[in-house]
Amino acid sequence: MFFNRKKEDNGYLSARESRRISKENRRITNEMEKRRKRKNVPESEYLTKMHDPANAVEFDNLHSWFFTDAGTVRSVDGVSFDVPIGKTVGVVGESGCGKSVTSLSLMQLLQRPQGQTVEGEIRLNLGDKAINVVDTPQEVMQHIRGNYVSMIFQEPMTSLNPVFRIGEQVDEVIELHDGEGKSKEDIRKRTIELLEMVGIANSEGVYMMFPHELSGGMRQRVMIAMALACSPKVIIADEPTTALDVTIQAQILDLLRQLKDRINSSIMLITHDLGVIAEMADYVVVMYAGRIVEKGTAEEIFYHPAHPYTIGLMASKPVVGREVKELYSIPGKVPNPINMPNYCYFKDRCDKCTGSCEGAYPEEISLSKTHKVSCCRYYPEEMKGGRENGKE
Ligand SMILES: Nc1ncnc2c1ncn2[C@@H]1O[C@H](COP(=O)(O)OP(=O)(O)OP(=O)(O)O)[C@@H](O)[C@H]1O
Ligand SMILES: [Mg+2]
Repeated sequence: MFFNRKKEDNGYLSARESRRISKENRRITNEMEKRRKRKNVPESEYLTKMHDPANAVEFDNLHSWFFTDAGTVRSVDGVSFDVPIGKTVGVVGESGCGKSVTSLSLMQLLQRPQGQTVEGEIRLNLGDKAINVVDTPQEVMQHIRGNYVSMIFQEPMTSLNPVFRIGEQVDEVIELHDGEGKSKEDIRKRTIELLEMVGIANSEGVYMMFPHELSGGMRQRVMIAMALACSPKVIIADEPTTALDVTIQAQILDLLRQLKDRINSSIMLITHDLGVIAEMADYVVVMYAGRIVEKGTAEEIFYHPAHPYTIGLMASKPVVGREVKELYSIPGKVPNPINMPNYCYFKDRCDKCTGSCEGAYPEEISLSKTHKVSCCRYYPEEMKGGRENGKE
């Protein structure tokens, strides 16, 4: 349906072709932007129903693409998973597999205009009703962000504004989202309270400081305070501890867990640190090259990994008490997201590959009610036959 590059093999595009792509991209994205920017859209256009009311978020066949001048990058290409209320869902996968793009789609914060969700639904449970974020206009989304979903970003130094004091920045969040009927003094009090809640001892002092005067751990705590300012229902934590040392990391994770229980929200925890996932997550989603290859409860993924990629991932982490000469590393690299192959994306790196892997991208197979895997090694006998002429 969408335009893609013509010259696929040599990796170079002529100036003419590049111009043609950008013109076509503009046409596609302008149309989508126009739709998103509409005002006074009737609620019925984006209201939806949760498939299971016990879920806070349901990603359903999400496709988020970037329309770049070099072609269409299919960063997220058919992702479905649920985030149950009060639970933590860990999203793992190697760099560039689409973890951040998935979470940014939920916030409608993809880099626009080139980044667009082109297909699928993201159902968000607001309590008394549910919305489909993909169809929600920008105007309404501003109210959703912060109040219902908020995000703790990967890099606290770049996410805080260096020229404003910490207090002013947290005040602003409260003022924007929860400020109705509150005086300046009330807001200040709430900010100090939040800073204390996230474990900053000298909260009055920190209120007056600039970001560069804080340590990395303190900055991350400030980010968490901002994210929690309005008691959101869903907290997205994108590598919340990557920039921190191990002791602070443990403290921050503890803090996240406590706060989550206090406001009974759900956490979508993105990381490539399996240790963090093991400690925090109830459910785990394993992504590879823009798709989910396996998902299940943390126990299923850690003790019974099924997909060769997950098995490799598990073998590549050190385990206390087990002596290994060399940690396993998965050979090869991820396919180019502009020209994805039409067979299993992991096939070229897979040491368990069989003849039947030649067919179309593998369908999702249920190993238990919660455990699903996309790998043709788990196909029941009747599905194995005829894979060669299988559908895409
Ligand atoms: N603004 C953008 N324009 C074009 N492509 C992008 C853009 N942002 C992300 N991508 C592409 O989308 C893919 C997924 O990126 P994403 O940031 O979701 O990775 P990730 O899984 O979060 O990786 P990491 O673990 O390194 O944070 C990558 O191939 C990336 O090149
Ligand atoms: Mg990321």
